[in-house]
Amino acid sequence: MALPEGFLDELRSRVTLSTIVGRKVTWDLRKSNQGRGDWWAPCPFHQEKSASFHVDDKKGFYYCFGCHAKGDALTFVKQIENLPFIEAVERLAREAGMQMPERDARQVERADRRSRLVEVMEQAVQWFRLQLKTTAAAEARAYITRRGLSPEAVDRWELGWAPDQRQALFHALTQKGIAPDQIVAAGLCAQPDAGGAPYDRFRGRIIFPIRDGRGRAISLGGRSLDPNARAKYLNGPETDIFDKGRTLFNVASAREAVGKGLPLVVAEGYMDVIALAQAGFAGAVAPLGTAITEEQLRLMWRISDEPIIALDGDKAGIRAALRLIDLALPLLEAGKGLRFAVLPGGQDPDELIRAAGPAAMQRVLDTAQPMLRLLWQRETEGHSFDSPERRARLDKSLRALLARIADPSLRSHYAEEIRRLRADLFGPVAKPFRQSFRQSFPQPGRGSRTGKFPTADAQPLPTTRGSLLAQGSDTAAEELREAVILATLLTHPALIARFDSDLDRMEPLTPAHRRLRDAILAGPPDTAPARVRETLARDLDALMSRPHVQIAPPVRNLEDAEMALICLAEDFAKLAAQRGARRELADAVEDIAVLADEGLTWRLAQSVEAVHRAQRHQRDDSTDLGEDRGALSQHLQQMIDSRIWEKKH
Ligand code: UTP
Ligand code: MN
Repeated sequence: MALPEGFLDELRSRVTLSTIVGRKVTWDLRKSNQGRGDWWAPCPFHQEKSASFHVDDKKGFYYCFGCHAKGDALTFVKQIENLPFIEAVERLAREAGMQMPERDARQVERADRRSRLVEVMEQAVQWFRLQLKTTAAAEARAYITRRGLSPEAVDRWELGWAPDQRQALFHALTQKGIAPDQIVAAGLCAQPDAGGAPYDRFRGRIIFPIRDGRGRAISLGGRSLDPNARAKYLNGPETDIFDKGRTLFNVASAREAVGKGLPLVVAEGYMDVIALAQAGFAGAVAPLGTAITEEQLRLMWRISDEPIIALDGDKAGIRAALRLIDLALPLLEAGKGLRFAVLPGGQDPDELIRAAGPAAMQRVLDTAQPMLRLLWQRETEGHSFDSPERRARLDKSLRALLARIADPSLRSHYAEEIRRLRADLFGPVAKPFRQSFRQSFPQPGRGSRTGKFPTADAQPLPTTRGSLLAQGSDTAAEELREAVILATLLTHPALIARFDSDLDRMEPLTPAHRRLRDAILAGPPDTAPARVRETLARDLDALMSRPHVQIAPPVRNLEDAEMALICLAEDFAKLAAQRGARRELADAVEDIAVLADEGLTWRLAQSVEAVHRAQRHQRDDSTDLGEDRGALSQHLQQMIDSRIWEKKH
């Protein structure tokens, strides 16, 4: 839907960000300044105890100094509730008392038509529920009880009964004044090809209502009581309101449960979802009688970063898993994955829970394997790799597999993991063999594979790597930044409380900085300067006499607490970004020797980008803190250049 110009701005200006965020976090009131619309809380987007999540009501923006989540009220609602953008807009608009804009006539008509069908479906659902209470449904009720479902569960899942008659539903609905063509359009009745009155699709079946992400009834599933029925389950046909491949059974409740921290568990069938949810695994969903589609996979990933696929442990289940992996590989992006929980003895979740209880199910979920493990099993189990040819064949299929991962960063992580698994499989790797493995994963665009490609021995040892990265202007810049932070806090002790967790997380680069940091945190904030002067006079003098510290604006302007606050927040953020970049670089350098590919270059570029981001942040707020700007990224660039050079020669 196209929103009129200015609508979103108006919406943003009408809502108070802290009110929206306040429902999801517990404010750190000591650190917050409510009067100024300046709020701090532990971040709702990552696990933490300290309050690194900052909300600025005046700007209408939030930023997490820990995980760098940032945005406005709309992004917040979208992220935290797992909602599509337009639904986040709708929710906020309702809250702000703003009328959603009129859509164009065709859209309106389509929406009306759909909502009429939803209404028909809802009527059918309620009618089926009533039928389950009649004497004619005694057998169905007995069946439901045998399957372990309580009356509460029957209500919760709105189970119903479709009488075994040709037109029971059709008559019931038409008597309520619903037009026959609507009943057919909703997929409840079918129109005989030969003409004549429509007949009920669902006959003699237990009814499972299917609701969409917003809780609207969109279709039905029906289970036959007859073990010899041609179809054990019947699902409603595709209609204007039901797109099988785009929805999941129980998706609305599951989304809510995942929002509360439960895993998203993907099972095969209706009864599995119900059994899982009844056993406490409320984040359970299932596809609707078809193999999982790309759309469903995307839907799952919008709800959870790592859905757990609960598979019947039989051959068909494993085959389905491998098909799903094939579907998932090209769609994978960083942070998204799948886990596979293989159920014992060919059971489905419903059977396992009934036989062995929720704890047994929990154990299965706890031991769910990441996708890669399953792939690895497929490639290796039952095979022997006792000859170079066989190993080469394995490498070939692994390479093909990696090639299907579109996201370069992820591909390099997968490659890394495969290397590890491979090392496990073949035991301590002999040198000639390493050589062949390295040749199996060459970086693209290299003509000769035998040149001076860095050998395994050339790979930096962890210690040398540490020192390699610890030298140079990147750490010099960090060290200066630390000095300014410490000096600023000592000249503005009133700000210590706000930054104590950042200070605590800071990993000081020098012993003197560590001593100063520890002393600042060792007692009440207001006595910190006195405490430091008393116990660490030498360190303090050295710190305060550094030219860089002396010219630092927040140190010079004792009166300007506001500026000191801004500088500290930025300096801590930049410090975190630089350290993150350095760690990335260290990981990337490690990769070079064995598996150089475009993933590496990408990660190096990311490191540089992270630093640039930190600098942009600085520039945006136009508080220039020092001459070291750019030094780090230049250094990174140099390292990349030299490494690339090394690769080329
Ligand atoms: P299963 O055959 O594994 O059945 O089908 P189930 O879920 O264990 O069902 P119960 O426990 O016997 O009642 C798994 C799913 O496949 C779809 C349904 O969605 C079912 O829940 N299915 C199965 C059909 O659509 N049609 C069928 O004929 C069978
Ligand atoms: Mn079953």
